[in-house]
Amino acid sequence: MNRRVLVAYATKRGSTREVAEVVAETLRAEGLEAECRPAAEIEDLDGYAGVVLGGALYMGRWHADARDFLKRHRRPLVPLRLAVFAMGPRTLAESDVEGSRKQLDNALAMLPELDPVLVAVFGGVVDPAKLRFPFNRMRVSDARDWDAIHAWAQDVAEQLQAEPAVALA
Ligand SMILES: Cc1cc2nc3c(=O)[nH]c(=O)nc-3n(C[C@H](O)[C@H](O)[C@H](O)COP(=O)(O)O)c2cc1C
Repeated sequence: MNRRVLVAYATKRGSTREVAEVVAETLRAEGLEAECRPAAEIEDLDGYAGVVLGGALYMGRWHADARDFLKRHRRPLVPLRLAVFAMGPRTLAESDVEGSRKQLDNALAMLPELDPVLVAVFGGVVDPAKLRFPFNRMRVSDARDWDAIHAWAQDVAEQLQAEPAVALA
């Protein structure tokens, strides 16, 4: 069985990369050969059995590198198992997470031929020291729930290793 999995990420300030790295580590612990790389650097998907794509949300849109990744690789992605995640609401309150989920769903709706096996929204990070005016007035926050991220990555590992569904005659 091919166990090579790509964990691709699209980040501006690094918090999505940190989550992608933890996802990749979890996949490795579950027996997969996970490579964690920036989405923009991926030229082809040759040799991968599955893909996890994570991207930050900014101003209502999923990071351009994540959107471009799906567009550029949409044909090879169709037969592969794909899981996606986005970052990140300031809190894990239902209304905040739902708002971010809608933004991610809008991006995924552009490519209806892709049907991810798992989709998640994780809380985001705000570090005003890394932001310009007026965003540098935002409060420091980190809404990443590492237990939830780890548990999601374990579900991803299970989905990526599951036997293909048997078509009913
Ligand atoms: C200017 C700005 C705009 C943002 N817009 C959104 C948004 O529309 N939706 C959302 O869920 N998160 C939004 N966020 C939160 C980011 O997604 C969050 O900070 C994330 O952790 C950033 O990821 P990165 O460190 O990988 O760039 C925004 C953050 C900033 C600073």
